[in-house]
Amino acid sequence: MGKILVTGGTGYIGAHTVVELQNNGYDVVIVDNLSNSDVKILDQIKTITGTKPAFVKLELRDKAALAVFLNEYSDISGVIHFAASKSVSESVKNPLLYYDNNISTLVNLLNALAGKRVNFVFSSSCTVYGEPDVLPVTEQAPIKKAESPYGNTKQIGEEILKETANAVDDLKVIALRYFNPVGAHSSALIGELPNGVPQNLVPFITQTAIGKRKELTVFGDNFDTPDGSCIRDFIHVVDLAKAHVAAIKRMEAAQMTAAYEVFNIGTGNGYSVLELIHTFEKVSGEQLNYRIGQPRDGDIVKIWGDVSLAQKELNWKAENSLADMLASAWAWEKYISENPF
Ligand code: NAD
Ligand code: WQD
Repeated sequence: MGKILVTGGTGYIGAHTVVELQNNGYDVVIVDNLSNSDVKILDQIKTITGTKPAFVKLELRDKAALAVFLNEYSDISGVIHFAASKSVSESVKNPLLYYDNNISTLVNLLNALAGKRVNFVFSSSCTVYGEPDVLPVTEQAPIKKAESPYGNTKQIGEEILKETANAVDDLKVIALRYFNPVGAHSSALIGELPNGVPQNLVPFITQTAIGKRKELTVFGDNFDTPDGSCIRDFIHVVDLAKAHVAAIKRMEAAQMTAAYEVFNIGTGNGYSVLELIHTFEKVSGEQLNYRIGQPRDGDIVKIWGDVSLAQKELNWKAENSLADMLASAWAWEKYISENPF
């Protein structure tokens, strides 16, 4: 087993994946510019796994720094590329920031890795499907015109990787299309650390319940769904993290049938925003202050994934329930409110 480079490894999904990699005996090196994460995460990981992962503060837009890094860490055999900017609304306001940080960094990384034999895992997103015509959505569903520059960076990123993997012999790529990752590690020592006002549902809920936010607005309850609110395929971040380990193992075992493969990573179940709120209230014992507001521009009404391909080929399946996801998110919110980084 070679070393696994985890870009964006101090971030939300990255940190959980580092824990699962270490639990599976992998030697990990993280690079991150700490633009959306805190270096304290490394100590938290050490408390969970007993091993502090190697860390290099690195800006992936800086080609020279990347070359120096790869020269020093020449024994990397796998790369899990999380580093990117991820705010849909910010991407609409500042598209170039997103093309620079999500596309230039990917191109830099692939150029820097050229000539090395590497297994590469890419963080893609169910956002590539837009509003699907058929549910559950399979990997064969058409890619819809992206609703935002952020979404477009995931589509373009997938294309760059597919074309490159097909063109060169030494690169194998698995793109994982995540549905909606939520929750935190069972230790409550790592979790999502939103910068400013959370834009995603679950951190907004936990911050409202703890008193950091006054109330949650539900973005519409008049959609064509059983209770009128939008439906998503929420997945526990630890299950998602494990999917990355499964992808690396598939590549190491030379089980791929093509140089580029793509898998949906969700639970296969759709839950509505209101169902999620009520499940949160049940597992936390807190009454959530929420009101129904206007729909949010560009929101998808309903999406959940067909995850049978990942189950068959990656031998991976999400195990945690919605209640598990929300209980862990709540435990993390309480922890981080009492022990801020
Ligand atoms: P995150 O912001 O918590 O983690 C990303 C990390 O990358 C951060 O630690 C940040 O500091 C780092 N980073 C950003 N730009 C960098 C650069 N130029 N150089 C070095 N480091 C840089 O985000 P996350 O939620 O963990 O998401 C990880 C990946 O998964 C992203 O690619 C994101 O687009 C994708 N994704 C996330 C979701 C989600 O809902 N969280 C859903 C689908 C896909
Ligand atoms: C979930 C549901 C909202 C906040 C976004 C990106 C997507 C992906 C994940 C990375 C929706 C509702 C939310 C609130 C609400 N990221 N909501 N009140 O919209 O599925 O996806 O993040 O690739 O690209 O678009 O996730 O958590 O923002 O919203 O009612 O305050 O919760 O309308 O129905 P979404 P989300």
